[in-house]
Amino acid sequence: MKLSLSHYLIRCEREHGIESDLRLLLETVARACKSISHAVNKGALGNVLGSTGTINVQGEAQKKLDVLSNEILFEANCWGGYLAGMASEEMDGPVGIPLAYPRGKYLLLFDPLDGSSNIDVNVSIGTIFSVLRSPSSEEDAGEAAFMQQGTRQMCAGYTVYGPQTLLVLSVGHGVQVFTLDRDTGSFLMTQSNVRIPADTREFAINMSNVRHWDAPVRRYVDELLAGRTGPRGVDFNMRWVASMVADVHRIMTRGGIFMYPRDARDPTRAGRLRLMYEGNPMAYLIEQAGGAATNGERRILEIQPATLHERVAVFLGSRNEVERVTGYHNA
Ligand code: AHG
Ligand code: MN
Ligand code: MN
Repeated sequence: MKLSLSHYLIRCEREHGIESDLRLLLETVARACKSISHAVNKGALGNVLGSTGTINVQGEAQKKLDVLSNEILFEANCWGGYLAGMASEEMDGPVGIPLAYPRGKYLLLFDPLDGSSNIDVNVSIGTIFSVLRSPSSEEDAGEAAFMQQGTRQMCAGYTVYGPQTLLVLSVGHGVQVFTLDRDTGSFLMTQSNVRIPADTREFAINMSNVRHWDAPVRRYVDELLAGRTGPRGVDFNMRWVASMVADVHRIMTRGGIFMYPRDARDPTRAGRLRLMYEGNPMAYLIEQAGGAATNGERRILEIQPATLHERVAVFLGSRNEVERVTGYHNA
C-alpha cells in the first residue's frame, strides 16, 4: 500500500513537528496542482492553448495556461487562513489575503506554469512553489516580507505535468516523489529520500546562447564538449527541455547539471530565471537531495533578495560538477 501525500504530511507533523497549518497549506497547493493538471491534459479540447495577448510583469507574453494556473492557485489558497499573502511570476507584486478571509503566518510564492514555451507543443511543463514564514507577527505581506534568503524556506516543491503528473516535495527532511493516481485523485508516494549522484555525464544548457556566456562557463562547457579527447577524459551527453521542472526532475532521477548562466545580452540581469520562485525552491530541493546549487559564485539559498522578480544565474545538480563550474568562476 503506497503512502498518500496526506498520510505523509500527517507523519511529518507527528515526527518532524511541522505545523498543521503548513500541512493544510500543502494539501491545498497539491489540490490546486491537480486542477492545473486536469486543465493541461485537456489541451486543445479545453481551450487552454495559445496566448492571452497580454504581457506580464516579466515583459513576457502570457499563455492562457499561465493565467489559468495562476488563478487556480490564488483562488485555492486565498480563503484557508494559512497565508498572509502570495506572490507569483504572473502577478505584478505580492497580493495580500482578501479582507473577507482570515490571515495566517505563511507566504506562498509560485511560478504557476513553468515551461510556457512548451505548452502548445505538448512537452512536459509544471508548477514551482515555495513557502516562507511571514517575518512579523502582523502577518505582513508587503514586498519586504518576501525578501528572505532561500535558507529560510519552510518547504518547496514542484509538479511536472508529463506522462505522469508528479509532485516533488521537501519539508526539510529529504525529497519525496508522489505520483497522481487519476483513479482515486490521490498523490501516492512512489520515491522517498531522493539522492542525486555526485558525478554525472549529462549536462543541460541552452547552447544557442554560447556566444553570450562569461569565460568560466565557456571553459566548463568546452571541456564537456571535448569529451574523452579533452581534459575531462570522458564523453558527456546533453539535454535541454526548456522546462526547468522537467530538466530538474531528470536530475532528481538520474543526476546531471542544469545551467542557465548570466549572459551578455543584458548585463544588468543576473540571469534569465527568477530567484524567488524558480531559483530558491529548486535550490532547496536539490540540496535536500544531496546536490548543489549556486549562481556561479555562491549558494543560491544564501543570496539576499532585493526585489520580488529579481533574476539569478543557476548552476544546479550533481555536486561535483556544480563545484567544478563554480570553482572556475572563483578561479
Ligand atoms: P517560464 O515558462 O515560467 O517563464 O519558465 C521558463 C524558463 C525555464 O522553465 C526554462 O529552463 C527556461 O525558461 C528556458 O529558457 P530558454 O527558452 O531561453 O531556453
Ligand atoms: Mn518558470
Ligand atoms: Mn511561468
